[in-house]
Amino acid sequence: MTSISRPEIVELLKLRGKEQREFHKRASAIRKDNITDKVYLRGLIEFSNICANDCLYCGIRKSNINIRRYGLSPDEILASADEAAEAGLTSILLQSGERRDRDFTSHLSYSLKLIKHKHPRMNITLSVGEQERGIYEEFYEQGATRYLLRIETSSESHYRKLHPEPMSFSRRVQCLNDLRDIGFQVGTGVMVNSPYQTLANLADDILFFTTLDIDMCGMGPYIPHSDTPLSGIEYLSEESLNLGLNMIAVLRTVMPDINIASTTALETLSPGGRELGLLAGANVIMPQFSPFASRTDYALYDNKPQGVRECRDFVNSVKERIEELGLVPATEDPGISMHFLRRVKDDSSR
Ligand code: 5AD
Repeated sequence: MTSISRPEIVELLKLRGKEQREFHKRASAIRKDNITDKVYLRGLIEFSNICANDCLYCGIRKSNINIRRYGLSPDEILASADEAAEAGLTSILLQSGERRDRDFTSHLSYSLKLIKHKHPRMNITLSVGEQERGIYEEFYEQGATRYLLRIETSSESHYRKLHPEPMSFSRRVQCLNDLRDIGFQVGTGVMVNSPYQTLANLADDILFFTTLDIDMCGMGPYIPHSDTPLSGIEYLSEESLNLGLNMIAVLRTVMPDINIASTTALETLSPGGRELGLLAGANVIMPQFSPFASRTDYALYDNKPQGVRECRDFVNSVKERIEELGLVPATEDPGISMHFLRRVKDDSSR
């Protein structure tokens, strides 16, 4: 891990134009030197948009009555996993709104069981929010090995401005620690350029990731959703894109061997945004494998792209684009976080 100060990060975040492009090239070279030029593909299955939380920025927040709610059955989740396997992917991400009721968690455990039974070598990442430690253990026993839980912001006071009670910053940190303790590869992330956020907050977010010693990161620019309380706040999309890309490049510089996703939100702000993320040092892309009919309902923010109906075609076009960038699409490779492999090895030799 490279040490860096908060003011140094702020200066890097401000880079634009030629200096910014050179910075991204340096970050890309760091990726190549530390974890090769492989780009891993994860099949993204957004299996339910029902959510018990009321985050002030999010389109699927509980109070939004303007969206159709859906939840896929275990068989439907399995069918999406089958499609990902048929497209040659060895890794999927199951994501949904947050629910802690037993119906939800047992339904998910059962889905994991079905997937692992049929595709024993499939690597499964979960992103289903805050859960009790015992539930995380159950998911791990059923074969999920990676977990993404975004902290959204590392500043507790900023967190409070984005999340109503009873959500709590410390609870989320506790969950991240539990996940690591259980043995998951742990990922977190923040929304970039969200309301009330400062550059110093973003610099602190990077330092927070290093302190937590994360294995993976998924962060993307905030994009307003018209049915949320924060939608009226002034929004500069170009600034969001630039900051989103610079955050990737800074993180790659300070944590050279973690997996960093180039997220859909980048693509929403600019066609080709996902490629720019890869050129800034990201190494993971998550093509959509949710049933086409439900994609518009997983509307976290306005204009979220739905991807291409035929998942396999989309995977092929993503692969081509990765090659055009001079990078290597690696579908067969499960893409375990190199950082995770190293830290587990260090722990066991202690
Ligand atoms: N803009 C960008 N990202 C968002 N998310 C939720 N709402 C938005 C938004 N308006 C992200 C959050 C959350 C993930 C599911 O989606 O970071 O963790």
